[in-house]
Amino acid sequence: MIDALGAPQSVLLLGGTSEIGLAIVDRFVETRRLHTVILASRDPDRSATDAQRLRDAGVSAVEIVEFDSAEVGEHRSMVEEVWARHDDIDVTVLAFGVLGDQANFEADPEGAADAAIVNYAGAVSVGLLVANRLRAQGHGRLVVLSSVAGERARKSNFVYGSTKAGLDAFAVGLGDSLVGSGAKVHVVRPGFVKGRMTDHLEEAPMATTPRAVAEAVAAAIASGKEEVWVPGPLRFVMSGLRHLPRAMFRRLPI
Ligand SMILES: NC(=O)c1ccc[n+]([C@@H]2O[C@H](COP(=O)([O-])OP(=O)(O)OC[C@H]3O[C@@H](n4cnc5c(N)ncnc54)[C@H](OP(=O)(O)O)[C@@H]3O)[C@@H](O)[C@H]2O)c1
Repeated sequence: MIDALGAPQSVLLLGGTSEIGLAIVDRFVETRRLHTVILASRDPDRSATDAQRLRDAGVSAVEIVEFDSAEVGEHRSMVEEVWARHDDIDVTVLAFGVLGDQANFEADPEGAADAAIVNYAGAVSVGLLVANRLRAQGHGRLVVLSSVAGERARKSNFVYGSTKAGLDAFAVGLGDSLVGSGAKVHVVRPGFVKGRMTDHLEEAPMATTPRAVAEAVAAAIASGKEEVWVPGPLRFVMSGLRHLPRAMFRRLPI
């Protein structure tokens, strides 16, 4: 169970190699309460180093399970396998996703659809499966890494933005459906996060770090806050952008 200070004992990371996801796990390791971590990765071999690092940091049980968001037919057995080994999971972090490139998506609509399956359809499938488990155990949190990109799709990355808009709407609705169950969904909307996903891009204003996202998630778990912007003031920037008349929004160089 998550303790009174917001420290979980068990975490399932969907997207087990995600920089932000691992930063969130590392943040919980620091509480010294975390004893179980399950890294759900496409390539379990690539998670072996992180698994060992977490064991060395004092996490007594670190497991790796195979998980591919696009393989929705496999999600049920993965979730069943995890919950068969553990009575309950305190925090599940949905951290998988692909950014892709807008020009490539326009040239390769099949690739764009693949990204939509990974970012949205796969998240719907595994998100519902996890939520059913949280409902049954009567507690637990699902942290969903949405993005400011989903707040209003920009012409320069509307394929990715639309996948995040779908994911965000799904996560908000799922959170509403869980009210009264003891479980909660935290929808996290980072701006530009410096790291592997963005290292080929010019840094955007108000850029942040995986560690800052992790701090915001830890604070939300402790306080129960269900919508989290990182950094916080992005909420007001995005609110302004969202309500800008379309004719003006179109002319922005974004
Ligand atoms: N970085 C940013 O600026 C930023 C901003 C806002 C929101 N976000 C969101 O935050 C989340 C984490 O991003 P990050 O910065 O940590 O990026 P990252 O390090 O590139 O992590 C992305 C994760 O998604 C996994 N993944 C990709 N395709 C998958 C699939 N088909 N099935 C399962 N896992 C798959 C990757 O696994 P592999 O290692 O196997 O590829 C990796 O674990 C993403 O949803 C991203 O959209 C990121």
